[in-house]
Amino acid sequence: MSEETCDLRELEVLLETFQGKKYPVIPILQKTQSLYGYLPQAALRAISEKTGIALSQLMGVATFYAQFRLTRQGRHLIRICDGTACHVRGAPQNIEAVEDALNVPAGGTSPDYKYSMEIVYCLGSCGLAPIAVVNDQVYGKIDPKTFVEQLKKLE
Ligand code: FES
Repeated sequence: MSEETCDLRELEVLLETFQGKKYPVIPILQKTQSLYGYLPQAALRAISEKTGIALSQLMGVATFYAQFRLTRQGRHLIRICDGTACHVRGAPQNIEAVEDALNVPAGGTSPDYKYSMEIVYCLGSCGLAPIAVVNDQVYGKIDPKTFVEQLKKLE
């Protein structure tokens, strides 16, 4: 959803559910993110106008907490571990293969918004290294070729 196509009607309905209360910033941002998948600038401006909460305060909260995203994510979130155990067993090659094959930069999103990739450091399953988690599904002992093929099959 680009900034231009950000439909604010559902956000208005959402904000009405908070009316009459002191507007709670974090729950509002959480529900807004559930609505759009991230926090679009247009939505933050609309929240500010409706609630009277300063845009700078909303941005401060949104950038402080790791749970909030200010850019649109891909439909599939690929988290590749590059902790020590995974690194020595080939994580860099897996990362490079995904970047090249799916046109998704580490820490970024593919132009078609199909994939986002995050690099994480130890998912607590070093015995399965190198490991990745895709949309909450764990992929252990991955190799570049097989992993890329698995990712390409995602709709
Ligand atoms: S280093 Fe990757 S799971 Fe621990």
